[in-house]
Amino acid sequence: MPLKQRVFGFNKAASFIIFAPKPADMKKIVIAIDGYSSCGKSTLAKGLAAVLGYAYIDSGAMYRAVTLYLLQHNIDPSDQLAVASALPYITIHFENIGMGNHTFLNGEDVEEAIRQMDVSENVSQVSIISEVRRAMVKQQKAMGLQKSIVMDGRDIGTVVFPNAELKIFLTADPEVRAQRRYKELKDKGVEVAMEAVRRNLAERDRIDSTRADSPLRQADDAIVLDNTHLTHEEQLEKALKLAEAARLQTANESVSL
Ligand code: DC
Repeated sequence: MPLKQRVFGFNKAASFIIFAPKPADMKKIVIAIDGYSSCGKSTLAKGLAAVLGYAYIDSGAMYRAVTLYLLQHNIDPSDQLAVASALPYITIHFENIGMGNHTFLNGEDVEEAIRQMDVSENVSQVSIISEVRRAMVKQQKAMGLQKSIVMDGRDIGTVVFPNAELKIFLTADPEVRAQRRYKELKDKGVEVAMEAVRRNLAERDRIDSTRADSPLRQADDAIVLDNTHLTHEEQLEKALKLAEAARLQTANESVSL
């Protein structure tokens, strides 16, 4: 199927394919997408993975799954020793189900449960713990060995894949992010006040960017993409151009070696 037709049905976006290099000219790459909470990282990452035929991994889902386990077992997320001791009992994997990639915790599909507010309110606390980070990053690095992967999170371009061929740092206006998140939760039937969403985002941004171990920051070689005024199709179009350029450059570099 031609590349442009594989974009979910965004017919108008077909014009973004401005050149069509032969598949043999295109190399497999790793795409790292980082940014603050609710700025559309997963939408962009999923779109890119679908068009390129790459795997998509939501690294935040892994921190959320750990948090859910702790809540289910009455383990205090701020008790770092207790959290570290629980890690050997936690297995996380992903499965493609229908249109999406579902997160499994110890064999159980927890895709819905990890998006609830109680997990959102505790996850940043859990993700500051170095033992948790080490365990997650080890699995994430292994997932990238075959390349052809798009991973989104907070430390993907800086820690997980510092050599990624394409790094995108996604940003958006905080109020726009809060409104998007509110709508997302409403659409899922989650009852929540707008102010609680604003507070949760601000608090997660603060913890994520000030923690000692691998804080959220833009990698030096990341390309900033501000999607405040972009539609999903427009941001995908921009990112695809960057991905195609990175794949061609990688192909040219390997030819000249
Ligand atoms: O992307 P998200 O909002 O679902 O991520 C949930 C939390 O996980 C986020 O507040 C910070 C943490 N996280 C992280 O520390 N490192 C990552 N690579 C991804 C997420």
